[in-house]
Amino acid sequence: MLLCIADVLDLSQVESLVDKLNQAKFVDGKLTAGWHARMVKHNTQLHDDGGRLKDELQQTVLTALQQNSLLQMAAHPKQIRPPLFSRYQEGMHYGTHVDNALMGKDADLIRSDISLTLFLSDPDSYTGGELVIESTQGEQAFKLPAGAMIIYPSSTLHRVEPVNQGVRLAAVTWVQSFVKDTGDREILFDLDTARHSLFEKYGKSAEFDLLSKSHANLLRKWADV
Ligand code: NI
Repeated sequence: MLLCIADVLDLSQVESLVDKLNQAKFVDGKLTAGWHARMVKHNTQLHDDGGRLKDELQQTVLTALQQNSLLQMAAHPKQIRPPLFSRYQEGMHYGTHVDNALMGKDADLIRSDISLTLFLSDPDSYTGGELVIESTQGEQAFKLPAGAMIIYPSSTLHRVEPVNQGVRLAAVTWVQSFVKDTGDREILFDLDTARHSLFEKYGKSAEFDLLSKSHANLLRKWADV
């Protein structure tokens, strides 16, 4: 399931992040790619100086993700990796790759179930730079407003098209879900969406209670805790 979520960050949060990123040091993105992704990764990412800036920016994004109710409904996050901040200048791109299945180490090791890109640059300020996701139905390209994000299964092949003009800033991260299977997560998301909409129309009805029961019991069945 692919899902675009608007307004994860508000305009003032985006502006403040972008201001800070514009003054920060970026390094070659190959440093955090697996051996095959390294061959096609041509971007830069925020320097890990162990300093407070990176921690502060990561915390801003993580807090927004944890508070986002659509992300909670669609992803059921068990763990979210600290985000990377990537910067593509003219000519930079990230060729077709699949994300590593396991990320981090020791106690912080996660299985990547869901990949997440939070767009930070105004889409009118750069050309190219679409995130393209492949599926059996073909390819889909995404270039979202600043502050919006897309989540998609980490099992997909995907790429970032070359930026031809301007600068593309984004935060990217990965989620391990309590519900491993993407099809199961979609069923839960549909049921949850339906019961919310039913509640808005008719309040707490017998149908709402049954949908809530099914949703809770499927989650109980599928969650690995
Ligand atoms: Ni990727």
